[in-house]
Amino acid sequence: MKHAPSPIRPVRSMLFVPADSEKKLAKGVDTGADALILDLEDAVAPSRTHIAREMALAYLRSRPDRGKQQLWVRINPLDTEAALLDLVVAAGAPDGIVLPKVRSAADVVKLSNYLDALEVREGVAKGSIRIAPVATETPQALFTLGSYEGCSPRLAAITWGAEDIAAALGASTNRGPDGEYEPVYQLACSLCLAAAHAAAVQPIDTIWGDFKDDAGLLRDAQRARQRGFTGKIAIHPGQVATINAAFTPSAEELAHARRVVEVFESNPGLGTVGLDGKMLDMPHLKQAQRILQLAQRFAA
Ligand code: COA
Ligand code: MG
Repeated sequence: MKHAPSPIRPVRSMLFVPADSEKKLAKGVDTGADALILDLEDAVAPSRTHIAREMALAYLRSRPDRGKQQLWVRINPLDTEAALLDLVVAAGAPDGIVLPKVRSAADVVKLSNYLDALEVREGVAKGSIRIAPVATETPQALFTLGSYEGCSPRLAAITWGAEDIAAALGASTNRGPDGEYEPVYQLACSLCLAAAHAAAVQPIDTIWGDFKDDAGLLRDAQRARQRGFTGKIAIHPGQVATINAAFTPSAEELAHARRVVEVFESNPGLGTVGLDGKMLDMPHLKQAQRILQLAQRFAA
């Protein structure tokens, strides 16, 4: 029987931390990231995966009380033996598993079934370990982004990446001469956004790799939020504050959202109203309500 887990707190920033680095693990807690992703996959040399696994488990166990920071683990792709060994981390009750290189929602369902067994075996609350697939890293995945709705109550977020898919497509670069992503990666981004909203889970934007370029990160994060993403992955502690700020409604946005809600409240029965010389209808009201909700989530 499927267990319906309690809702998980949304996150603005998820910071990748290579799980074989004692120094970076120690630093993670004070970065202000809403979540850490202890990485067992691409940031760890294969010769050190077994060490990273043990370190990730020990780290999870050392922080049974997570406070405001969720602890996720990125395991290896599900069709590898390494992934099955990585799942030893279930004993540390991670808040979630980031699943790379998925092909479709079937991979999420398979992982969810493994977790059903592991949670019972390890005495971890049933249904408490969530799943966030990196849903654009294989060519197959681009054709199955519509498959996630209702696939598992564990599904909490969907994110995307432009690096592994570029390698899989035989591309020598994923950017055009103007520095923008080539259309196929823009498609991956758009489909991720639509997939997450279709499944009513968080769309989390991909990394900004140039961790010294704060202005570029800010632009990228603001653009992602304007598009409808609600959080973004960080790879360096220096990126966290910028990302948190970009995904928290500003005072002006809040003030405007309140006015939009008020103008509808004071005109009951009207589907369209005017404010500051502009037409407002239902999508504007929904947007304003979403901003007020967001602000509440990240207050204090
Ligand atoms: N998490 C926690 N701490 C980190 C960190 C991270 N992701 N990245 C850097 N730090 C720490 C460093 O250890 C260093 O600590 P110190 O001041 O105590 O020496 C400090 O932050 C400053 O780091 P800096 O010297 O600017 O960077 P670096 O050269 O040590 O590391 C990277 C650069 C890219 C290798 C590193 O940021 C990193 O490992 N990022 C995550 C990579 C990853 O997980 N990728 C997988 C997903 S794409
Ligand atoms: Mg990768």
